[in-house]
Amino acid sequence: MGFNRQLLETILESRGKYTYLPSSLHIFESVPSTNQTLWDLLKQGADKKSVVIATQQTSGRGQWGRQWISPTGGLYLSVGIVPKLEAKDSYQLTLASAWGIAALLRQCGVSVGIKWPNDLVLHSRKLGGILTETKVHNGQIMQAVIGVGINWANPVPDTGINLESWQATQPTQAISCLEMLTTTVLLGIESGIECLCQEGVNVLLSRYLDLLTNIGEQVYINNLLGTVVGVTSQGKLHVSFEANDPNHIKTPEIYVEPGTISLGYCKSSVLI
Ligand code: BTN
Repeated sequence: MGFNRQLLETILESRGKYTYLPSSLHIFESVPSTNQTLWDLLKQGADKKSVVIATQQTSGRGQWGRQWISPTGGLYLSVGIVPKLEAKDSYQLTLASAWGIAALLRQCGVSVGIKWPNDLVLHSRKLGGILTETKVHNGQIMQAVIGVGINWANPVPDTGINLESWQATQPTQAISCLEMLTTTVLLGIESGIECLCQEGVNVLLSRYLDLLTNIGEQVYINNLLGTVVGVTSQGKLHVSFEANDPNHIKTPEIYVEPGTISLGYCKSSVLI
């Protein structure tokens, strides 16, 4: 099941977008990691806005140093961007991409939500994830690589879901092939980054929060029960504690760094 480059280009053109020029699309059968391949191509002088797509990955990278199992049938892509952003704000690229992809999928009738900080979820199961990597100089991002993995037709664990099987249970299937999903993801990243750069992080955050499935969720932190009330512009989870909790009179709220706690896939099973 190879990737059909011509079909991808035709669909991209039909959506009226020429940002991802055919010359900057690099399509491979198998690579260790599309993120790594893109960094290698950039080192060799490739266009800074190049896109790398692979049918499978042998050492796919997930968040927090985890592995991203990447058999044939899934979508594995990485997009290069050169944002005017300080390194301290780099998590905004992940928030923007998550929102943009989820919003475009929803326009196609796929009821995707976002699980903090970077998971795309469907029916409380993981549909995909985003891994942003950056090259920084003097506190500024010089180059970013946004990597996206989405379960299309690949096998998934119990906590996962693949889009092709889910669509088969629906009355209509707006996303008919992997190439159409790829176009949707590329345009989603573009619209998320456009929102961040043109409308600003506050607008982006309010849109991200609209799609966040964790708002109102109860979460234990240091054995105390709090409620998720938001996410900051640097990607931290905002948790508030009952004002009348005697242990939290001095700290009625807390901001949690991405990667330091893990929220469960079902609302009833919040992990610490
Ligand atoms: C996560 O842990 O949720 C993020 C997973 C990101 C996986 C994608 S697949 C394409 C790109 N290349 C990689 O090695 N990782 C990202």
